Amino acid sequence: MRTNPEPDPTNASQKRGRLDPLTPLIKRHLRFGWWSLLVFLTLGIVLEALHGFKVGLYLNVSNETRRLMWTLAHAHGTLLALVHIAFGATLHLIPSWNVRLRDLASASLVGASTLIPAGFFLGGVVIYAGDPGLGILLLPLGAVLLFVAVLLTARGAESLLNPDGVEPSTEAKGRDAAKPKAHR
Ligand code: HEM
Repeated sequence: MRTNPEPDPTNASQKRGRLDPLTPLIKRHLRFGWWSLLVFLTLGIVLEALHGFKVGLYLNVSNETRRLMWTLAHAHGTLLALVHIAFGATLHLIPSWNVRLRDLASASLVGASTLIPAGFFLGGVVIYAGDPGLGILLLPLGAVLLFVAVLLTARGAESLLNPDGVEPSTEAKGRDAAKPKAHR
């Protein structure tokens, strides 16, 4: 009877072993980034149309706050979408990043890029003379999450210069443990 062949630790399986744990996270950020770029570019097109048709709701001097809020929603949404793409592209460069901190950075970035543009946009839906609406209260929370995400990512990126200075991720430890022992 034939038995299953020995697992091949070379080539494809080694490559898979190195990238597999990160791949879903990279995919999530690239997808989030490209889709939200599309959403906020579309908001830019809508703003352009409001200019084109000289819509008072957006352009009247009395609605200056709304125009500022929606412009800021568009600008922050597009720029944060690009940050997601940069984050996704960075992840595979720091495979030794502590998993817990990496996941916290990822979740904080998703939270920030939802709350910041949403806060600006909702703040412009109902305005009180020169003041934005209550939606703007989402903004400080989003700002804290963005600060956390960028701080953790900057710290994680330090391992690019000093790969031994960062605690190995549990995934990396698991990979090392799974490696076949060399025959003596
Ligand atoms: C990656 C792509 C984009 C980025 C990073 C971006 C960024 C920005 C920024 C930073 C502003 C604020 C400028 C200021 O007030 O000084 C702005 C305003 C604006 N953007 Fe974009 N934009 C992008 C794409 C687009 C596209 C595709 C359109 C539509 C054709 C568009 C339409 C507008 C309009 C109409 C304003 C002015 C809104 C106003 O003042 O009433 N943007 N954008």
